Amino acid sequence: MPESRLLLGDCHEELRRLEDASVDLIVTSPPYADSRSTTYGGVSPDHYVEWFLPITAELLRVLKPTGTFILNIKEKVVDGERHTYVMELILAMRAQGWLWTEEFIWHKKNCYPGKWPNRFRDAWERLLQFNKQRKFHMYQEEVMVPMGDWAERRLRNLSQTDNVRDPSKVGSGFGKRVANWIGREKAYPTNVLHLATETKNRNHSAVFPDDLPIWFIKLFTRPGDWVLDPFMGSGTTPRVAVDMGRNAIGIEILPNYYALAQTAVDGALRQTAQLALLESGTPYEPTEPE
Ligand SMILES: C[S@@+](CC[C@H](N)C(=O)[O-])C[C@H]1O[C@@H](n2cnc3c(N)ncnc32)[C@H](O)[C@@H]1O
Repeated sequence: MPESRLLLGDCHEELRRLEDASVDLIVTSPPYADSRSTTYGGVSPDHYVEWFLPITAELLRVLKPTGTFILNIKEKVVDGERHTYVMELILAMRAQGWLWTEEFIWHKKNCYPGKWPNRFRDAWERLLQFNKQRKFHMYQEEVMVPMGDWAERRLRNLSQTDNVRDPSKVGSGFGKRVANWIGREKAYPTNVLHLATETKNRNHSAVFPDDLPIWFIKLFTRPGDWVLDPFMGSGTTPRVAVDMGRNAIGIEILPNYYALAQTAVDGALRQTAQLALLESGTPYEPTEPE
């Protein structure tokens, strides 16, 4: 059975309760600079790095050497240009000891409509991947995608070139042998995640779509591993983590969001327990509330 540990408070303080090298995956979306100041406060873009670095120092301490940290963030526009705090944060985290291993893009399929005189609708956010070392746990087969109908059409009549290694025409050193794809049902995905945002009926203004933490949990963890979200909001990350048989730790500073997360995670734990009983063949008998 998965375990959960939800903490109410400032993650900078609460993270100190966690043991060194005890977490396999961190997935989080901290408050964006100066955003949503009416609901859960904003941090000035000019002081963002200074605010966040003591927290990333704690995250570095609690992450296992084989673990991964996924940070969802996007720089805001200040005085007509993109602020540089995300870039400054990446450099400062590298100086702190993190490796900036990869950047995934979250393409928001249903991004907010609108028109600005000098820019288009913002349809993507960064998902920065940080690690402690070059070798980390990654289970790529878990996120493979179906080849799609195009493969059947493309592979029906192979040309001579398709049967040999065809080097890239631009001299990059890459090459492909199309015939290698015959019989394959799945392909590796790209580093762009196409996911719609979800806000309805979740009682929090900035929730993750479930599929976002699910994708990273599949990619970087196994059942029984520990997943942490230090800014858990409504508790999406810990809820889907326990649904997937992982152990979860979540931290939230606001009591009303903490309560939401607690209800969500308790529900997921109950469901997992019922499923486990069903699978073991024991009839499930719900207990009467007292
Ligand atoms: C962008 S939201 C996260 C939403 C979350 N991903 C979800 O799916 O519900 C950021 C959350 O961090 C919380 N927060 C802000 N500062 C915090 C801090 N210092 N420690 C812990 N939580 C904090 C906010 O109250 C807010 O709920």
